[in-house]
This record gives sequence, structure tokens and C-alpha cells, in this order.
Amino acid sequence: MSEKKKKTGLEIGLTNYGDSGFSVYLRRSFAKSMGYSSEMLSQPIVGIAYTPSGFNNCHRHFPEMLEAIKRGVTAAGGLPLEFPTISLGEVFLNPTSLFYRNLMSMDTEEMIRSQPMDSVVLMGGCDKTVPAQLMGAASAGRPAIQVVAGPMMTSQYKEERLGACTDCRRFWGKYRAGEISSEEIQTIEGGLATTAGTCSVMGTASTMACISETLGMILPGTAAIPAVQADRLRAAEATGRRAVELIETDLTPSKIITQKSIENAMRVLLALGGSTNAIVHLSAIAGRLGLEVSLGRMNEISDNTPVLVNLKPTGDHYMEDFFAAGAMSAVLRELEPLLHLDCMTITGETLGERIAAERDGWINTKVIARHDKPIEPVGGLVALFGSLAPKGAILKRSAADKNLFEKEGRAVVFSSLDDLSNRIDDPDLDVTSDDFIVLQNAGPKSPSGMPESGYLPIPKKLARAGIKDMVRISDARMSGTAFGTIVLHISPDAASGGPLALVQNGDRISVSVKKRRIDLLVDEDELAERRATLNKKPSVEQPKRGYQKLYYDTVLQAEDGCDFDFLRSEKK
Ligand code: FES
Repeated sequence: MSEKKKKTGLEIGLTNYGDSGFSVYLRRSFAKSMGYSSEMLSQPIVGIAYTPSGFNNCHRHFPEMLEAIKRGVTAAGGLPLEFPTISLGEVFLNPTSLFYRNLMSMDTEEMIRSQPMDSVVLMGGCDKTVPAQLMGAASAGRPAIQVVAGPMMTSQYKEERLGACTDCRRFWGKYRAGEISSEEIQTIEGGLATTAGTCSVMGTASTMACISETLGMILPGTAAIPAVQADRLRAAEATGRRAVELIETDLTPSKIITQKSIENAMRVLLALGGSTNAIVHLSAIAGRLGLEVSLGRMNEISDNTPVLVNLKPTGDHYMEDFFAAGAMSAVLRELEPLLHLDCMTITGETLGERIAAERDGWINTKVIARHDKPIEPVGGLVALFGSLAPKGAILKRSAADKNLFEKEGRAVVFSSLDDLSNRIDDPDLDVTSDDFIVLQNAGPKSPSGMPESGYLPIPKKLARAGIKDMVRISDARMSGTAFGTIVLHISPDAASGGPLALVQNGDRISVSVKKRRIDLLVDEDELAERRATLNKKPSVEQPKRGYQKLYYDTVLQAEDGCDFDFLRSEKK
């Protein structure tokens, strides 16, 4: 019996008219209406998930990148066909871009699966777009390669360099503290994000780009190429070429994203002092393939992974400096003894082979430290567990004040984001710099959909007295570009009845980074009483229709990546 021939190009996934011959004929006919010759239509098809948007400044150069990808696909004998998906421009979405990450991943997955393409190029960049595309492509199971937008360039304000978005926060903090005028903040506003591309520091977008390169899903050396440099277009062209070659190899995401490559990605995240958001996204990507990101394992890895990268928000430099300093090639080389080197990458080489090929590469140690002279001997993130966070919480210790690592304090509680914005600057607020500011109801199950509001502001009266950092605790996330002693992602979150919901003004809370603990120091009988009262309160009204209903009905907690329960795969 002859083996069934694998369907390729336009024959993949036919529209069902009950006659497959008719379906192919009709599809060819309609494709020809776009001016393609029979010869071009017989080529393998590379789909391109194309995400420019008038609401996404970070992707404004995508038309030029698309042209380069298409050039690469055509040169390698494929037919490039772009298709739109949702685009998520970080600062244009309400309540938050994370709320729509899963929608974008579903859009990406379904459009890859339902349209005739042999492989796909994923054009991502701004924060949530990279994980959304990796999640979608992992679930779709077609050969896929990603190419990212690349970071913005910095600009200048007086004698200082300006880059989104650590400097956005730094100058806003100065403005709040009365150190700069409204005229100055307006000038700065115009200079923070001056080119196409993603935020110019090691925020979420850059962290996720580096993670995608570590996982092996983008071409080596391309995560950090600035958006406006010609190398970015050459990377796009090379990505298009590789997308055609992938078809023969059948290198699907599940062959690249494995438990070992996920662990490599965690290791790199820690060495970068990268964004706390990345741990949520990595958990979600892993979950699509039945893999796991364990916060306990992250702590073990964190203890023997040095921080190597001196970039804002925790260090001094910007992404364009990181690129010039050797970028991910240098980081991976320095981490080599700690990595699983047998992981497959998108080029068909293992990670070990890639590193070996770049053995003599450049490194500027002012920006990327040698592993034996690290910036910090241990990783940038740490997970805390305890009676306040039974399923875990995250602290970015590389961005925090070490003097606050072993501390007990009095809780000053805000029950929601509205409560926070109404009272935080009240001159009569009973707060001192030794207190812990606690925000409830900003987790994944809250109406705010886990916004990046965990960077709770220092109350104005303390900021004006020169206080720069305090312990701040919430079930929210934090922008990858922010810094401070900030405990995030408390799980379970307050809106789903986690212990965070029980905290009241004046309670004592203890944090110990050394012991990896965060505890609410209130006795069990008292907590049981509070729980009973909480259960009697009417819960927040849940949305009744549409995507919002789907979100609230099915979203999981931070440790499961805030994915929807029905999108994850069975554990391997
Ligand atoms: Fe797009 Fe920062 S706003 S990466």
C-alpha cells in the first residue's frame, strides 16, 4: 500500500465543500485573483503572523521588516503570505495587555492551524506579543520561527540619556517628589521613546526576546539588534529563508521547547536580572506543551546563577549597549557550564554547537560580566512562600534594597487600585517608611486583570521626605522596567480568596529573603473569623458575556502562567 502523501502548500487544511478536488480548484482560483502564477502557488507556503497596529508604536517598522522576511522566503523557494493577528501595544490596552495575551495566543494558534501554511514566521516584539505567539505556535504544532522587533534607541535630555521606560518612571518619581517642573516633564515625555522598537532597557519585551533566543525559537544573535539597524532587516531576511528550510526538517516548537530548554530560559532570565513578568509567560509557554516551571526549582537555580548583565532597570546600560557588548552570544557563552547544551535550536544546531561556533566572540565586560566576576553571585529573582503566599510570590532581588530583605513590618492596606489611588497621597495617611504597603485585588481573578501596578507608589509625603524604597506587597505584576523592594504575584490572589484578602491595617507581616518566606503574623483563629466574614460579603460581579467572561471563568493563577485552563496540555 502506498504511503499517504503529506499535503503541502495550498492543499493543507481544505475548506470543506464535500469535494476536496473542488476545494483545491476553488482555492487556487481565488489565490490567482491576487495575481500569483501557478508556479508560485505550487511553492511551499510560509505564513507570516503580522502584527503592526496604529495602537502599537513598538511595531511601527514592521512593514519594512515584512518586506525583508518575504525577500528571504522567496529567495529560498517559498511563497510568503502574511496574515494579520491581534497586536498588543502595551500602553494602549485597558485594563492591561496581559488580559489579552491569551486572546492573541488563541488568534495566533487558530490562524496558523486553519490556514494553508507549511511553516510560519512570528513577528513579535512588544511585551505580551512574544509570549502570546510562542504559546499559540506551541499549541498549533507547525514548524515556526520567531523574529522580534528589536529595542528602541535612546535619546538625550540635557546631559542624561533617556530610554523607555525605566527613565519614564525615574523622572515621574522626581516630578512627584517636586524635584522637576511640569515644563520639564513635558519635554522629557517627548524624548523617552524616540524610535521604532521595544523599550530600550531589560524590560519584559527585551527579556522575552532573550528568552526566545535561549529557547531556540529565534535566530542566534538576533534578540537584541536595535529596531532601526540594518542588521535587523538582514535578520528578518535570514528568518524568512530559515522558515522555508524548516519545512523539510519538520522542526516544530515541541522539539525545541522542552523541559531542558525551559530550564535554560529560567537560568538566562536570572542572569539577565530580567523582568518578573517573564516567569509568568514562561510558565504559560511551558504549560502549552505539558511542561512545568516550578518556583521551587527557580529558587535552586537562582542560588547558583550569577547576574551578568548590567542593564537598566537594575544597572546602568541600555539594550543598544547590550547588543554592542556581545548580546546573547556572550551571555550564553558565560553561562555555558550551567546550561543544558543538547537542546535543539531553530537552526538545527544544538545550543552547545551554537556556543562552540561563537567561542571567540566579543564581550564588553562593562555591560556583560564574566561568570567568575559577576555583578551579583546569585540570580535576579527569588520566589517566596509562606502563610501569605502558599503558592508563591516573586521578588526581584536584583532591583530591591538589600536592607529591606529581612524585615517585619506593619501592614498599610489598600483594598483595590481605586482605593490606592484615592488614599496613597492623603497627607493624613498613617504610614511610615518602616511599614509594608499592601495592595489587594489586583491579581489575575480581580476586575483589573493583574495589571503592572505592583510598583506601588511611595506615599507622596514620604517621597518628599526622601524615601526611595519601601516593602510593597501585592498580587499584581510589575513592569519589567521598574525597580524597588516589591513582592509580586502573591498566589492565590485576593480575588480568589487567598490569604492576601485577609490582611488588615496594622497586621504584622514578615519577609525573609534568606529563608524564602513571606508570612502573615496573625493567629489562625483570627484568620478563620476573617475568612468567614469575607465569605459572607457579596463577591465582585463577574462579567456575563464575551471574552471577559471567558477570561474570568477560566484564567489560572500566576504559577500557571495566567493561561486559560482549557488551553494547557496534560502534564508530561
Ligand atoms: Fe512596547 Fe515597552 S511599550 S515594549
